[in-house]
Amino acid sequence: MSNTALHHQRRKVQHYRPMSAQFIEITDMTSNDLDEILQIEKASFHAPWSRGMFLHELQSTISRSIVARTCGNAFPEIAGYMIYWLFSGEAHIHKMAVKEILRRQGVGTKLLGEMIRLSLREGAQWCVLEVARSNERAKIFYEKFGFRVQTVRERYYTESGDDAFVMAADIGECAKWFHERDDTVDDGWESHS
Ligand SMILES: CC(C)(COP(=O)(O)OP(=O)(O)OC[C@H]1O[C@@H](n2cnc3c(N)ncnc32)[C@H](O)[C@@H]1OP(=O)(O)O)[C@@H](O)C(=O)NCCC(=O)NCCS
Repeated sequence: MSNTALHHQRRKVQHYRPMSAQFIEITDMTSNDLDEILQIEKASFHAPWSRGMFLHELQSTISRSIVARTCGNAFPEIAGYMIYWLFSGEAHIHKMAVKEILRRQGVGTKLLGEMIRLSLREGAQWCVLEVARSNERAKIFYEKFGFRVQTVRERYYTESGDDAFVMAADIGECAKWFHERDDTVDDGWESHS
């Protein structure tokens, strides 16, 4: 096994919530994941990111990119992904999507939980994101984990003209949510009470 493969394997965090008899694991994103990711991206957003935009994020020192993939079955596939930036004690979520047929099965929760865990380790205190006013489903998703609307940016999305809710959460509080309620996270959590 190459050093890169070994490193990749060590970084792997396994989660054991069954999903239609499958499992989900979270790993760092690599350029090899982009074909699958671009399909999910195109199906999920009005203005999907290009391959170049994802590659740019993979090279950025402040950017972190993770993927959720099914495993333990014959045909592992990417179920979802998230890209966030870490700077000045803040994690800023720039992108998150779950493959349409795998939604509402906890994949987004796994991605968010891993992002919170990793961001805490890197010293972040706040997590911020923008969500379109029309994207009620995503707003409900983030609210579940303690995110609250801080302000509205009018016509933030130039393609659709939609407003953006700026939502934020205290990462320590969010981590408590996962620590107390999510018994499917297998390791790496520390008590923040
Ligand atoms: C938002 C998104 C990432 C959520 O991923 P997911 O894997 O379906 O989320 P989960 O299964 O972990 O859901 C967690 C909670 O979010 C809420 N939620 C998720 N989808 C919802 C929906 N369609 N309607 C209402 N609530 C929803 C629920 O509270 C849910 O908990 P529950 O299932 O116990 O009721 C996914 O819907 C998606 O990819 N949407 C398109 C892209 C997008 O909008 N990205 C966010 C941009 S800011």
